[in-house]
Amino acid sequence: MKEQLEKIYECANSEIEKAQSIAELEEVKGKYLSRKGEFNEIKKNLKNLPDDEKRVVGSLANEITQKLESSIKTRFEAFYQKELNEKLMKDKIDITLPGKFIPQGHVHPLTSTTNEIVSILQSLGFSVVPSEFSPEVETEYYNFDMLNVPKDHPARDVQDTFYTTIAKNVVLRSQTSGAQIHAMEGQKPPIRVIAPGRVYRNENINARKNNFFHQIEGLYVDKDITFGDLKGVLNEFIRIYFGASRPTRFRSSFFPFTEPSAEIDVQCIMCEGKGCKICSGTGWLEILGAGMVDPNVLKGVGIDPDVYTGFAFGMGVERLAMLKYAIDDIRLFFNNDERFLNQF
Ligand code: PHE
Repeated sequence: MKEQLEKIYECANSEIEKAQSIAELEEVKGKYLSRKGEFNEIKKNLKNLPDDEKRVVGSLANEITQKLESSIKTRFEAFYQKELNEKLMKDKIDITLPGKFIPQGHVHPLTSTTNEIVSILQSLGFSVVPSEFSPEVETEYYNFDMLNVPKDHPARDVQDTFYTTIAKNVVLRSQTSGAQIHAMEGQKPPIRVIAPGRVYRNENINARKNNFFHQIEGLYVDKDITFGDLKGVLNEFIRIYFGASRPTRFRSSFFPFTEPSAEIDVQCIMCEGKGCKICSGTGWLEILGAGMVDPNVLKGVGIDPDVYTGFAFGMGVERLAMLKYAIDDIRLFFNNDERFLNQF
């Protein structure tokens, strides 16, 4: 029986050597080591042997099975490693191949500028009005009357304002300031709001003017609001938007709905103040109109000007974008020329 065992062992060993794949190895394993395998058959017959032989043959059988198991395992691992390597070689990625070009969308520079301005103003405590407070199609009532604009003011002239055929008093808004009125009608002070949006003016189109553009209106009404607050907020806004190094100036001005009024200029970025075509030789570019809300405007919406004061401002988005990115023609924003847009 001992010999029989050794013979089986040799056969098994040589079959293990000969096996060429994991599958063949599994087959050998089944043939010799499974429950129905040759060794088990022998182990079953052990009980018929005399005791002392039983021990010798039994332990030999165990020893042989262990050896076979371990050599099957070794070969199995070698095959596994080989197959894995072959698979990895086959699946190898050529990292020197150029990648696929995936075109990426991006926001229009006016949108990103608006977003930037809005987030700066939000950080200074302003909230964006709901869209119904800021319609592009307005009545003269909101665009002019409630803003203290006299009936005979030249801005009302068809030369500047687009009148619609919807009704006699319906216009394309010429400024976002109407949003001030909507906001004050819609809520009680304290009011601290901004309204970004498109405005329309009947201009001759050139490098500096388009017949529509974008503004961001701001309004802060509460007790004890002063011109100092206005200066503080706008200076801080300019410092964040342009950086501390850009010179600015407050120039006294006039708007029917603010008193006193100011315009704020920043030094022309194209010529650094020397004077050029863009700044009409002045070295300065106006970016903002502002002032203390006129008591007549507060009265009109039922806010007592003896109790409350406020300031308002309106800034031109195109202007602010042109200055930041050194764009010398407003028409570039609206031509949809990809060579321009792809730079942002
Ligand atoms: N609405 C003014 C304009 O379009 C700007 C402005 C807004 C001025 C608010 C003062 C206060 O020129």
